[in-house]
Amino acid sequence: MRIVKTIEAFNEMRKTLQGSVGFVPTMGALHEGHLSLIRRAREENDQVIVSIFVNPTQFLEGEDLDAYPRREEADIRICEFAKVDMLFMPMMGQMYVPDELRIGAPAIRGYILEGAKRPGHFDGMLQIVMKLLNLTHPHRAYFGKKDAQQLALIMQMVRDYFMSVEIVPCEIVRDGQGLALSSRNTYLSPEEKERALCLSRSLKRATEMVMAERLDAAEICLEVLGVLQEADSIEYVAIVNRAFEPLETVLLGDTIILVVAWVGKTRLIDNVWI
Ligand code: PAF
Repeated sequence: MRIVKTIEAFNEMRKTLQGSVGFVPTMGALHEGHLSLIRRAREENDQVIVSIFVNPTQFLEGEDLDAYPRREEADIRICEFAKVDMLFMPMMGQMYVPDELRIGAPAIRGYILEGAKRPGHFDGMLQIVMKLLNLTHPHRAYFGKKDAQQLALIMQMVRDYFMSVEIVPCEIVRDGQGLALSSRNTYLSPEEKERALCLSRSLKRATEMVMAERLDAAEICLEVLGVLQEADSIEYVAIVNRAFEPLETVLLGDTIILVVAWVGKTRLIDNVWI
């Protein structure tokens, strides 16, 4: 595995990669969820590139940029183990210059739900994903469904900007008890981890209702809110279609149910695709 820290070295090495390229962008603190993306990229491509960059522009003032877990040594070993060909770990100064051109999330879809709670987050996220895709120019790039709105916006960016990359959505990975894996789970104490299970339980309840043909979105939201009471506070429950438009009735094959709640000082997100 080649580890590259500068754009110049990256461009040189990228030229030597033969065949199809799969790309997995990350912010490090790699866990089984990232590994599932890397494994899929490994299966479907001749070469696999992973990037690790904790992107400051997608963190809001007062968010956990400084506390965000950084585990460089462990991440390198995980990538080696997963047979990654190139690991790109740029420094901040490599990725941004002052007063640079910005791209922005679309007005409505970028500023509802996560975008309303974290205004500007998606602008920063799209900015870095655009840069990374342009640098790595992969055939396929892999993103988890856990960040469903992020995934929808990246797909829209690729469509709107005629970018020639296939975006591959990947399933959410959960621990044995159902908690969706996230780098932020490391903030949870054992007691909080137990209570955090109410997110996946609430989505299980929603899925059961859909299976029983109870498709009214307001009714499902109420049940979900009930199960989420174990969290310290609930930010939102939403039922939308794949284009992130709110639904009054669940449409089989075109619905995402999203929950966001705080347990202790940790903000947790989860969703289910119906
Ligand atoms: O999902 C993430 O980890 C980040 O938002 C991404 C896509 C790597 C961009 O910084």
